[in-house]
Amino acid sequence: MEIKTESLGFSYPGRSVLKDISIKIKSGDFVGITGSTGSGKTTLAYCLNGLIPHAIKGHMTGSVLVDGKDTRKKSMSELASRAGFVFQDPDWQIFSLSVHDEVAFGLRNLKMKNAEKRIKNALSMVGLDGYADEVPYNLSHGQKQKLCIASVLAMEPDAIILDEPTSQLDYRSMMNIYSILRNLNRAGKTVVVIEHDTDLIAEYAGSVIVIDKGTVVKHGKPSEVLSDKKLLGKLGIKVPEAYR
Ligand SMILES: Nc1ncnc2c1ncn2[C@@H]1O[C@H](COP(=O)(O)OP(=O)(O)OP(=O)(O)O)[C@@H](O)[C@H]1O
Ligand SMILES: [Mg+2]
Repeated sequence: MEIKTESLGFSYPGRSVLKDISIKIKSGDFVGITGSTGSGKTTLAYCLNGLIPHAIKGHMTGSVLVDGKDTRKKSMSELASRAGFVFQDPDWQIFSLSVHDEVAFGLRNLKMKNAEKRIKNALSMVGLDGYADEVPYNLSHGQKQKLCIASVLAMEPDAIILDEPTSQLDYRSMMNIYSILRNLNRAGKTVVVIEHDTDLIAEYAGSVIVIDKGTVVKHGKPSEVLSDKKLLGKLGIKVPEAYR
């Protein structure tokens, strides 16, 4: 799935956040998006998945094209079924009363076959086997993050967009999630991950987009972009170990 933005801009009521963003994420890319806190990464992700302009208040200018079609002209459910999204805060995503039902929800919504098998597989992939009957509210923050990822994996979307999916996970869980993403990408899925940890981007992503104050300041190969010590220093972003 290809996602393209053309002179994209966005303002929340009273606050301008994104300005003149023109990027192209090609089908099969593994893209990392990084930038300092408040630079607009989450807002950009909302534009890529259609939450903006469909569900979030504000003013959008320019356009976002998914496989050439303007997101304004697609319904939210159509967009969500093709590009899975994992929220930065799992509490914004989870609303079911059991782990099983949370993963089942999206599937039922899309009338998918083999639901039970898919639910079991997805929970097992993220290491939540045995948690199906738990109440999501009682899970740890990291376990909730895993649950949100499982919900999206179960739907087997063409593209997956994740907003800091491993921010509260231990090293092993983080590696597990990133290796799942790598496998999905190798199977042809488009992966877009917002990530503060530039070491992870350097290791896993094929390209990286650096955002500052709502605009793209650099987009290219991690080895070129993340070795730019001057730029990263100015933005307060860590130069990955690999490029020091
Ligand atoms: N609903 C909202 N209403 C008004 N302003 C908002 C809203 N959501 C975010 N903002 C503002 O938009 C700017 C960009 O926020 P955003 O969440 O996109 O940044 P971010 O790069 O994802 O930050 P972080 O790394 O902390 O997650 C911030 O100045 C933030 O205060
Ligand atoms: Mg964010």
